[in-house]
Amino acid sequence: MRGEPLLPHLGIPDRATMANDDEEARVTPWEVSGVVDYDELIERFGTSRLEGPIKEKLVDLAGEDHWMLRRGIFYSHRDLDVILDRQAKGKPWALYTGRGPSGHTHIGHILPWVFNRWLQERFDVEMYFQITDDEKFLFDNGLTLDDTYNYALENALDYIALGFPAGKTKVLIDTQYIKTMYPLALRTAKRITYSTARATFGFTNDYNIGQIWYTSMQSVPAFIPSHLHGEEVPTLIPAAIDQDAHFRLTRDVAPRMGFPKPCLAHCKLLPSLLGGDKMSASDPRSTIYTTDGPKVVRKKLMNAFTGGQVSVEEQRRLGANPDVCPVFRYEEYLFMPDDAKLAELELQCRGGEILCGEHKLDLLERINAWLERHQAAREEARERLDDYILRD
Ligand code: TYM
Repeated sequence: MRGEPLLPHLGIPDRATMANDDEEARVTPWEVSGVVDYDELIERFGTSRLEGPIKEKLVDLAGEDHWMLRRGIFYSHRDLDVILDRQAKGKPWALYTGRGPSGHTHIGHILPWVFNRWLQERFDVEMYFQITDDEKFLFDNGLTLDDTYNYALENALDYIALGFPAGKTKVLIDTQYIKTMYPLALRTAKRITYSTARATFGFTNDYNIGQIWYTSMQSVPAFIPSHLHGEEVPTLIPAAIDQDAHFRLTRDVAPRMGFPKPCLAHCKLLPSLLGGDKMSASDPRSTIYTTDGPKVVRKKLMNAFTGGQVSVEEQRRLGANPDVCPVFRYEEYLFMPDDAKLAELELQCRGGEILCGEHKLDLLERINAWLERHQAAREEARERLDDYILRD
């Protein structure tokens, strides 16, 4: 494979599919480990590839392309055609995505939200953003309900700072919107047996019963638009593929509850700066948080794993390998939307013209500039939180 053109959107094989590693990857909403083979996940989860006519139809209806589609970062879907047909016929649909507030937001979380924002802007639809303070209380022994609620508010600031308009964007914090959500969660839970939940999530005897119940809460926002509007309003859920298991259950129960099945668009995961697939919340060096200051970002980025050689001399002679490089993925997934620039960077990287240290410094400047703007926007959003949060 080496030596062939390698950018995914220009026909390169995926990093994960190239990996010579026979370890079976685990991809669940709570754990991503091993080398993720994204093609294999399509088979394992039974989703469809987001390519060809369906991708063209999405771009056509949106009126423009997006780099996350061009580069195969959003690469898989369930029933996206249902949403596109509704869009073409002028029938309502809504967006739904979310966040589990176990800490501050990191750059990986931002990735699907940027795509959500683009979809909302192109299609002018309602957006429901669930923040699961209950989930993170149940799943993280170190966090109290006060902690997860406080993080919920902090995470909401990041979401709002990306430009989601008030009025069309509703933030549902589970413990704050529970009166509306609870009857829908009960109706969902009654239709999911313990054996189905265990087979889907791999629960063992030492899980607490709240963890087993929780998936019914993540189903609810898929039904909320239909529930609130009193008519069929299916949701499209753009998220990383790690969240798919919840919605396999939601899709199973929806028709039995008289609701349309939610549709999904799945993206790949931005890798850890230390190498490996999902960023670890327990190791802050593995990712950049939206609240990090410039010096912290510098330290994390300069210490990041790369596809570089051990010495300058070898790098000049042999070139680096962007396929295994998380720093290159930062460019490809988020910070270098311009295809021509990315292709040029790849050539320089492979040809040994640019050293990893030089590239990191250049990216550092752009990440810190983005963070400065984002941090100002999230402070400004504090005043407007109440315009977004649904309470009952
Ligand atoms: P959470 O907080 O783990 O993740 C929030 C969103 O970010 C995605 N994600 C990533 N995307 C790219 N690269 C990464 N490294 C990365 N890590 C996480 C997740 O797929 C998710 O889209 N239970 C959920 C909260 C939730 C939710 C939802 C998420 C409730 N309803 C509907 C998506 C859609 C959670 O803990 O997400």
